[in-house]
Amino acid sequence: MKYRMKAMFFVYILLLATISFTPGECDTKVFNLKDYGAIQGGNVDISQALLKAWGDACNWKGGSKLEVPSATYLVNPVILKGPCRGPIEFHNSGTLKGPQGLRGDSWIEFQYIDGLTLNGGVFDGQGPPKQAAPGLPTLLRFTFITNSRAQLVKLINSQSTHFHLFGCKQIVIDQISISSPENSPNTDGIKIGESNGIDILKTNIESGDDCVALIRGSKDITVSGVTCGPGHGISIGSLGESENEQVEHVVVRQCRLFDTTNGLRIKTKASDMSGTVSNITYQDISFRNVDNPIVFDQNYCPSRTCRQGNSRVQIKDIKFINVHGTSKINTAVVLQCSGSNPCKGIELKDINIAYYKYQASTISNCSNVHGQSSGIQIPKPCISV
Ligand SMILES: *[C@@H]1O[C@H](CO)[C@@H](O)[C@H](O)[C@H]1NC(C)=O
Ligand SMILES: *[C@@H]1O[C@H](CO)[C@@H](O)[C@H](O)[C@H]1NC(C)=O
Repeated sequence: MKYRMKAMFFVYILLLATISFTPGECDTKVFNLKDYGAIQGGNVDISQALLKAWGDACNWKGGSKLEVPSATYLVNPVILKGPCRGPIEFHNSGTLKGPQGLRGDSWIEFQYIDGLTLNGGVFDGQGPPKQAAPGLPTLLRFTFITNSRAQLVKLINSQSTHFHLFGCKQIVIDQISISSPENSPNTDGIKIGESNGIDILKTNIESGDDCVALIRGSKDITVSGVTCGPGHGISIGSLGESENEQVEHVVVRQCRLFDTTNGLRIKTKASDMSGTVSNITYQDISFRNVDNPIVFDQNYCPSRTCRQGNSRVQIKDIKFINVHGTSKINTAVVLQCSGSNPCKGIELKDINIAYYKYQASTISNCSNVHGQSSGIQIPKPCISV
């Protein structure tokens, strides 16, 4: 009996010791870029120092933090790869600048990491391009990143898409800001594909293309508290480029769009490819001076040489609730759906969109749309049951 109590006592002490030596927040190991010979000022490429610091942080067994000091640095394209041995934070207190005239896939890319926090600082792509050109790099890319965050980051002057997520799961994008001029071609703000569980929160986007673009394989996406403008609005698609492309389970709420060329848009191409856009809710959205506040375009044709006709992408179960503001054109609601696969389950509730100029009335233009409308309806709805 006595021995048993003694043994239990030792087990207890051992347990206590284990608990108190488990690394916590404060045991995060910091890897400072300045200790890797990175030259400040923005004239000398520091990509090798950055890769070395990243390698050490990523290999650290436990929480690690790569600290970029408050200074300007020139960085050639880098791929910061995982998997890492513990959660890792990329903490940027400075400005990273890309080289001018850059070509390639992406400038800063993170790959195969679970538990990444990208925190703070400015990422300056040194664009934007004066005209569209092939091979211009995405500014920031997350490829196969899971359970991670990007917060308080400023992405500016991209040559192409600012932030592209591909193959990602459970990502929170919180309070970032994106800015490129209105006339910069193909500078999407945040583009998501083949990813699920992505939350974009309290983010400000000014760009020359879609503020948010959800392309094929985007599922369980929340876009909340986003301000967009200038830009091409919050877009789904285009779909219909390959077989069975889907975008599902999306909530867009409490967003404001200013001076954008589109507001809430779903676009699909006329083709033989099937696909689905379903379970999308737009709620508490305001517009100011927006060109096409609500638009479904199932004959989307960016190049003007597309096939015209029916799209086989099915749009269904889409709700617009409390959507209001001003439109730059009088056709404020355009729901042009496919003749072969009409839109169904479309719900409009409390819509109030005025023509910006003389408070004249706005109109709707529908084809092949089924669903219902209720509450305030300006313009007069054109959905059939
Ligand atoms: C629709 O999407 C929402 C949020 O993305 C989700 O919570 C809900 O379960 C989905 N509904 C259906 C019927 O799949
Ligand atoms: C509605 O849209 C269709 C297709 O874009 C167009 O041909 C038609 O003229 C429009 N109708 C009105 C009243 O604007």
